[in-house]
Amino acid sequence: MSDIVLHTQALTRHFGALAAVDDVSLEFRHGETHAVIGPNGAGKTSLINLLSGDLTSDSGSIHFNDLDITGHTPERIAGLGIARSYQKTSILSDFTCLNNCWLGANAPRSGTMRFLRPARADRQANEAAEQALEMCGLLKKRDWLASDLTHGEAHRLEIAMILAANPRVLLLDEPLAGMGADETLRMIALLEQLGREHTMILIEHDMNAVFKLADTITVMVDGKVLETAAPEDIKDSDAVRQAYLGGGE
Ligand SMILES: Nc1ncnc2c1ncn2[C@@H]1O[C@H](COP(=O)(O)OP(=O)(O)OP(=O)(O)O)[C@@H](O)[C@H]1O
Ligand SMILES: [Mg+2]
Repeated sequence: MSDIVLHTQALTRHFGALAAVDDVSLEFRHGETHAVIGPNGAGKTSLINLLSGDLTSDSGSIHFNDLDITGHTPERIAGLGIARSYQKTSILSDFTCLNNCWLGANAPRSGTMRFLRPARADRQANEAAEQALEMCGLLKKRDWLASDLTHGEAHRLEIAMILAANPRVLLLDEPLAGMGADETLRMIALLEQLGREHTMILIEHDMNAVFKLADTITVMVDGKVLETAAPEDIKDSDAVRQAYLGGGE
């Protein structure tokens, strides 16, 4: 059996004349942490949006194992076990941490199943929500309103919401954005743990984190893949260095 979980073939998406994602063919392997890096506007978030179904492609395809998921809705893609976080967090601030995770646990379930077995589904969702909070170091704050969390805790809650749905693939868009030094270390430790148990596609500008966490790195510039390689090869790549200097980072 192939160890490629997710792959794109010549994936392309324009916004007007701009090719945000331009002929991108990538393979994401089972169990790997695959970082996607590149300057602002390189197309990283657009790529994640295509993988999660939040954006539709103009051309090209996306396969999850042997299944062609090109053009599937975000709900169907989440239901297959591909979960994503957003660059700006999507938690509900007036809900408790537990309720946010409970929503996360229920998000990919079908309405039919909930109707048929509400008590069991509820129990499972509660257990999943609590486990996710524990994993993210937030179980003590399960009854806190999300609005009372620190910035770093809110980011961890967003990860917990995703984990509550028991996903197989994690698509994480800048999980370290705007964090202080302590929270950054804590989040890196969490990501390291998650990376051991999931296939993870990680967009991140924090290069220390990327080189610590990634098994494979793809560099995107102007919507295109510049290079995909192991971290040590990316570090030594002249093309990557030039692209970053050109991109003003
Ligand atoms: N909804 C949209 N409408 C029009 N243009 C868009 C839209 N979304 C993205 N773009 C453009 O597509 C290009 C790629 O954007 P994208 O957000 O994917 O980049 P990114 O690599 O995630 O950047 P950053 O590191 O700043 O988050 C940019 O030029 C951006 O302005
Ligand atoms: Mg982005």
